Amino acid sequence: MLAIGSDHGGYELKCAIIELFQERKIDYVDFGTNGPDSVDYPDFGAKVAKAVAAGDADAGVVICGTGIGISIAANKVQGIRAALVHDEFTAQMAKEHNNANILAMGGRVLSPETGKRLVGIWLDTEYEGGRHQKRLDKISAIEQEQIKE
Ligand code: RB5
Repeated sequence: MLAIGSDHGGYELKCAIIELFQERKIDYVDFGTNGPDSVDYPDFGAKVAKAVAAGDADAGVVICGTGIGISIAANKVQGIRAALVHDEFTAQMAKEHNNANILAMGGRVLSPETGKRLVGIWLDTEYEGGRHQKRLDKISAIEQEQIKE
């Protein structure tokens, strides 16, 4: 099960990514937004991130105009590694090295075709583990330190 959400700037690309989910017969939950009216990206980044962190979704996709704001918001939720990607290489590395559990993209940056291609790469790529796990553990340790403070 995947979770997806966007603001108005990412709405069109979100529709394209949902098409991809449907083509691949992937179950998903759509947290909105559901049209072009102006909304606030943190609300949608938080919904997707909380669903992933709670285990209600295996992973998620978040989209705003640039992908910047909604990735910052998603990364505030403990356990989330949201990666903002722009091309095939960053989409591949987001999984291979960072094991990103949320992919973030910019609806005003990428065409629907490119966005679909990048989500496909991220879904199809395997996390490499090994030396990268130590680094992910260090990211988790930062979160733990913050919680204790
Ligand atoms: C909304 O206009 C825009 O600021 C938002 O979609 C996003 O790009 C923020 O990072």
